[in-house]
Amino acid sequence: MNCIPVSDDSIKQAAKILRDGGLVAFPTETVYGLGADAYNPYALAKIFEVKNRPFFDPLIIHIAAIETLEEAADLSLLNDGTRKKLFLLAKNLWPGPLSIILPKSVKIPGIATAGLQTAAIRFPDSECAQKLISLSGRAVAAPSANPFGSLSPTRAEHVLEKLGGKVDLILDGGSTRIGLESTVLDITSGNVRVLRPGGTPKEEIEKLIGPVWGPGTRDQGLRIKDCGSGTGDQGLGTGNHLVSPGLLKSHYAPEASLSVFSKEEIVHQPYKTGVAFLFYDDQTKEIWQNSQKPPDLAFVKVLSASGEALEAASHLFETLHSLDHGSISQIFAQLAPNLGLGEAINDRLLRASAVK
Ligand code: TXA
Ligand code: MG
Repeated sequence: MNCIPVSDDSIKQAAKILRDGGLVAFPTETVYGLGADAYNPYALAKIFEVKNRPFFDPLIIHIAAIETLEEAADLSLLNDGTRKKLFLLAKNLWPGPLSIILPKSVKIPGIATAGLQTAAIRFPDSECAQKLISLSGRAVAAPSANPFGSLSPTRAEHVLEKLGGKVDLILDGGSTRIGLESTVLDITSGNVRVLRPGGTPKEEIEKLIGPVWGPGTRDQGLRIKDCGSGTGDQGLGTGNHLVSPGLLKSHYAPEASLSVFSKEEIVHQPYKTGVAFLFYDDQTKEIWQNSQKPPDLAFVKVLSASGEALEAASHLFETLHSLDHGSISQIFAQLAPNLGLGEAINDRLLRASAVK
């Protein structure tokens, strides 16, 4: 069994595997990552192979101290205004669920960034991740530890089930605290832009550095066709380069088909065998239950009884994993109120619902 509990010894063993060019799955505060030495192109190639991830999708580079940031990023290419923003963000929101796009250093091979001259850099707020990165003596490239396009893992068992035989070691640190991925923020162009909503709400970033563009900026209404990217172009920038391939419309998807509904819509959906219901809060579930009188509640789940966004986010992938098995062919999910972490929850639900 290549899955062992987090301890000083297992982290040491994992750090050696990274130094030797192997792959280690490890917990962060967001989701489990599939880590490799960010300076070793052969190790990085293994990540793409194991995840079946297209080479056009760049990886997030993890560091464990601000002092090592300049090994992974070339800050000399930033103008004074952008540098100021970077340090404000780093001082207040790192370590934490925020990946910042910066010019990459020469040490980061092109395979890590899909040929882009920028890299997404993150300083995770997880003791295990920090110890592992520090002990490895490298920056660690780590996408979520799941096959490309499918649900991100929030427990070691999820990694074991989908990628078990293909990684050298899985560090089991239990359930992750936040349960969905980091926010990806681009500060390199004139307009600061959220490329992927995630664990750090846009509002927290705006408090520090002013207005930020991103999903929801142009149009507060949620429509699936808007979920390709902030520009409605499915993540494609000019010259056919993917601005952020995590913006692909269909992503983070369970195997069952998923449909999303507003609170007002979901309460009118009839109970059916083979259909699971995923409510945002207890109150909505109660309204539905009173009108539908379902005979069986095994496949009726609630993300947060009190409708609290952090709790709901932390249960999202976990609950989708638990509903995603043979007897369920469809999942009906309620959208969250679209603010704070609710924006990231809705982003994942809408992408999971997009036709593959
Ligand atoms: O919370 C997280 O971010 C987790 C944990 C393991 O840290 N990692 C994660 O990685 O979610 P991944 O590979 O599943 O998602 C990385 C996202 C993708 O949407 C990718 O396109 C985007 O970051 N990205 C990476 N580098 C980029 C770059 N240079 N420019 C634009 N987008 C980039
Ligand atoms: Mg991912």
